[in-house]
Amino acid sequence: MTTVAKLLQPVESDLENLLSDLRTLIGAGHPILQAAAEHLFSAGGKRLRPGIVLLLARALDPIGELSARHRRLAEITEMIHTASLVHDDVVDEADTRRGVPTVHSRFNSRVAVLAGDFLFAQSSWHLANLDDLEVVKLLSRVIMDLAEGEIRQGLYRYDTGQSLETYIEKSYCKTASLIANSARAAGVLSDLPADQLDRLHRFGRQLGLAFQVVDDILDFTASDAQLGKPAASDLASGTLTAPVLFAMEEQPALAGLIEREFSQSGDLDQALALVRSSRGIQRSRAMAEEMAREAGACLSFLPVGSARDALLDLPDFVLSRLY
Ligand code: IPE
Ligand code: IPE
Ligand code: MG
Ligand code: MG
Repeated sequence: MTTVAKLLQPVESDLENLLSDLRTLIGAGHPILQAAAEHLFSAGGKRLRPGIVLLLARALDPIGELSARHRRLAEITEMIHTASLVHDDVVDEADTRRGVPTVHSRFNSRVAVLAGDFLFAQSSWHLANLDDLEVVKLLSRVIMDLAEGEIRQGLYRYDTGQSLETYIEKSYCKTASLIANSARAAGVLSDLPADQLDRLHRFGRQLGLAFQVVDDILDFTASDAQLGKPAASDLASGTLTAPVLFAMEEQPALAGLIEREFSQSGDLDQALALVRSSRGIQRSRAMAEEMAREAGACLSFLPVGSARDALLDLPDFVLSRLY
């Protein structure tokens, strides 16, 4: 399996700087909030989103220096992502993240809500200071989409009538919007023409959707230890993801178990077994493969070089998490 570190190798030192810059940026805040944010940043996520921004910046200017604005954009991207995770873990009552206790379980929910707000606020401030109205609009749209996605997911809990389209729109809001809009913003900072900006957006959209579908498959197939966060938790909380939506088409009994919200003993185990024995996982994987393929096809315009090669490896990396 391609490791993420190997993939992001062309921007390895940029990402190391990013981590120390992030620590400095949040350092001015309240000590408890700083401890909470620091707690998550040191646990170390994959840094996929800032990695994409940095790879694009490098690919679009292979000989030049990395601009301070691209670097700042990458930091903002990771800040928004981390803030969304801190809040998501409160909503989902998840105990672990990145292999360590979540902020609300390590501290408490008040600290987690404030730490997430604090990170969102910091990201908005640094975003405004980029002084580029188009980039400000793109990334504030992401923050709107994130909230919209979480709200929609809440509204559709245990709703067996929801369509695959609803699921994809929600996944765009929750996951793909950040990757799509930050990729586009990287292009804006590099003065790309409109058609290439559209391609970067499409790249991030399809890659982000593939990433979310893969994450939703892993919730059924991987362990807590492999994920660094609780597995088999989506269905238990009524969140119906691609494997379930496909499985319901061939296992009519599944809808009944979901509609009664797993109220009888053994319901959840039975439902999990029905999903795992259906073609739901296989069909979800095929869908993720198609999305990943489309993502790669959007990048043909990039100048050749190691950053472009790494970007072209991303779709396969996303899929390789399944193996
Ligand atoms: C987790 O994203 C949230 C989802 C979109 C499923 P990542 O898996 O990229 O999280 P980190 O940053 O590596 O922890
Ligand atoms: C992750 O959502 C948070 C966002 C993408 C905003 P999920 O609840 O689906 O993912 P995990 O399993 O907690 O990472
Ligand atoms: Mg969650
Ligand atoms: Mg969630």
